Amino acid sequence: KKVVLAYSGGLDTSIIAKWLQDEYQCEVVTFTADLGQGEEIEPARAKAQAMGIKQIYIEDLRETFAKDYIFPMFRANTIYEGEYLLGTSIARPLIAKRLVEIAQETGADAISHGATGKGNDQVRFEIGAYALMPNIHVIAPWREWDLMSREKLMAYAAEHNIPIETKKGKSPYSKDANLLHISYEGNEIEDPAVAPNEEMWERTVSPKAAPDEETVITIRFEKGDPVAINGQALSPARIIETLNKLGGDNGIGRDDLVENRFVGMKSRGCYETPGGTILLKAHRAIESITLDREAAHLKDEIMPRYAKIIYNGFWWSPEREMLQALIDKSQARVSGEVRLSLYKGNVMVLGRESENSLFDSAIASFDDELAYDHKDAEGFIKLNALRLRIAAGKR
Ligand code: ARG
Ligand code: SIN
Repeated sequence: KKVVLAYSGGLDTSIIAKWLQDEYQCEVVTFTADLGQGEEIEPARAKAQAMGIKQIYIEDLRETFAKDYIFPMFRANTIYEGEYLLGTSIARPLIAKRLVEIAQETGADAISHGATGKGNDQVRFEIGAYALMPNIHVIAPWREWDLMSREKLMAYAAEHNIPIETKKGKSPYSKDANLLHISYEGNEIEDPAVAPNEEMWERTVSPKAAPDEETVITIRFEKGDPVAINGQALSPARIIETLNKLGGDNGIGRDDLVENRFVGMKSRGCYETPGGTILLKAHRAIESITLDREAAHLKDEIMPRYAKIIYNGFWWSPEREMLQALIDKSQARVSGEVRLSLYKGNVMVLGRESENSLFDSAIASFDDELAYDHKDAEGFIKLNALRLRIAAGKR
């Protein structure tokens, strides 16, 4: 028996790596990915080796994550429940995909992960894996073992010589970090009435501490995707990294919310998504001059549905692929440049231009009599009012 484990190199997944070998007598293959979490992934190799693991996968997936997951999602202006930019949700399908691909490569018949039995992540990993490899087995230690408390975990680690990092300044929150965001849960913010400590935030300065001078930037879009910042062409991951830095320095992208988990409970989370917050605003600005009205409105109508599909873990589903085809088709003409001001937590659009602009100054300023005849408006309004006039007579 062989199992592929999503291994961060941290304490919890190290314990899982050991536990799987002891409890299931199976060979463990570890998979560690750089998704832009901002931590070295190479140290995971030595840690895995020390636990006797032979097949160790360590991969830099930042460009794939940005190009094939983050960008397609941002083409839809995706937001869950009006607030959440889905930073964790969008990374899970990629991890699920690599887990089953590695299972196929190494002849493993199971996958394992360190998500708890109360959250969304277990659902996303497992639905993703089942969609891509229907006969895969899943081992979810958090749903099975009796190491539910911190003390028991620590005791298990000590007993099996698993090093417990007591990194100074280690965050007391349950965090998930990647290129798109950092999420924080637990500790004092478990109470939705309590504000987070300022020290919690890692990727953004407080808007109060942000520079008194605005930062002006331009973002160039091609077919709905950002391709250059301030005239400089950048790879997808570099675009997000650059926007994260610009946003973080200006206090942009903090969010504090209570969300509805797929498993049924409400959960309080804090998020910082500096680059994503800028990108969303900029993308809407370029769409505002390049998209037809009904095309734009249709996108807005399906967006909450698309967000829920991603949040609930159905990235690898026919309904997500259908909506993606519609969204991608809408982006054919969404090219051009947006100029923005970043200032103390705000993203403000200063200007937008496109070679495909549908904005017609002659029509808008009413001096093109051929294109817009004022007389047409009279009948247009009367016919639209007809049913209201009929009904009004009957009141
Ligand atoms: N609540 C967010 C979501 O469901 C963030 C989850 C964070 N995951 C974690 N393992 N800390 O997308
Ligand atoms: C977890 O429970 O593993 C993290 C939170 C979540 O998945 O929603």
